[in-house]
Amino acid sequence: MEADLDLKVSKVAQLQIDWADDLFEFTPTDVIHRVPDPGRPEKPLLVSPKELPRRRLGSPEGLHSIAHIEFNAVNLALDAIYRFQEMPKRYYLDWLGVVVEESYHFQMIREHLYHLGYEYGDMVAHDGLWMTTYETDHDPLVRMALVPRTLEARGLDVTPPMIQKLRSIGDKRGVEILKILLQDEIGHVEVGSRWFRHICAERNLNPFNTFQETIENYYHGDLRGPFNYEARAQAGFCEQEIAWLKTLNQPKPAQ
Ligand SMILES: [Fe+2]
Repeated sequence: MEADLDLKVSKVAQLQIDWADDLFEFTPTDVIHRVPDPGRPEKPLLVSPKELPRRRLGSPEGLHSIAHIEFNAVNLALDAIYRFQEMPKRYYLDWLGVVVEESYHFQMIREHLYHLGYEYGDMVAHDGLWMTTYETDHDPLVRMALVPRTLEARGLDVTPPMIQKLRSIGDKRGVEILKILLQDEIGHVEVGSRWFRHICAERNLNPFNTFQETIENYYHGDLRGPFNYEARAQAGFCEQEIAWLKTLNQPKPAQ
C-alpha cells in the first residue's frame, strides 16, 4: 500500500533482508483484504485503454508505459505473496525474488526516462494489469494463469521488436535495459508456470485444458500473436501449449 516511490523501493529491499534474516512472518492473517487500489503515487493519471494515445515503439511514451508496467509488477508480485497464504514456502521465496527484480527494473527505466527529460507520472497510463490482478484474487490457479502466464508473457513477445527499435534510434542504454528485462521476465513467467502446474497437480487437473478454460473464462482480451515461442518455451510453456499458440497465430480463413 506504500504510495511513495522511493519508500516503496526501499521497503522492498528491506523485505529481502528480513527474509534472509528469518524475520519473515508466515502465520496466516485472520482477514485477507481485497485491494482494488494498491499504493501508487497520484500521477500517472489512469485513463481507460481507449483514451490512451498511440505510443510509438521506442518513444518516451513507450518507455513510460514500461515504467508503469514495472511499477505495477512490484505490486502484483507483493499481492501474490500476501493473498495466497496456504502455499509452500518456496512459493513465497519465488515471488519475493520477482518483487525485488521488478523493483530494480522500475528503477532502471525510471532513471533512463529521467535522462531523457521525463519522470514517471508525466504521461497517462491505464490500469489493466492491476484490474486483472484484482479480478483474479479469489484463486491462485486463476491468478497464475492470467497474470504471469498471459499478461506478463505478452512482454516476452513485444520486447524483442522494442529492442530492435531502440537499437535503430541509437538508444544504447535503452537496449541494455530491455535486454535485462526480457531475460528476467522469462524467469517471472516461469515462476507462474511452475506454480500453475503445481496447483493443477494438487487438484488433479489437466494443466493444458485448465489453462485454456481459464483464459476463456477470465481473459477479456484476445490471445494474439506474434508470439515469442522460444522465450515462452523457456518460461515453461509446454510443447502442446506452443503448438496451440501456433494455431492462434494463423491468419483467419477467408469467409
Ligand atoms: Fe519486470
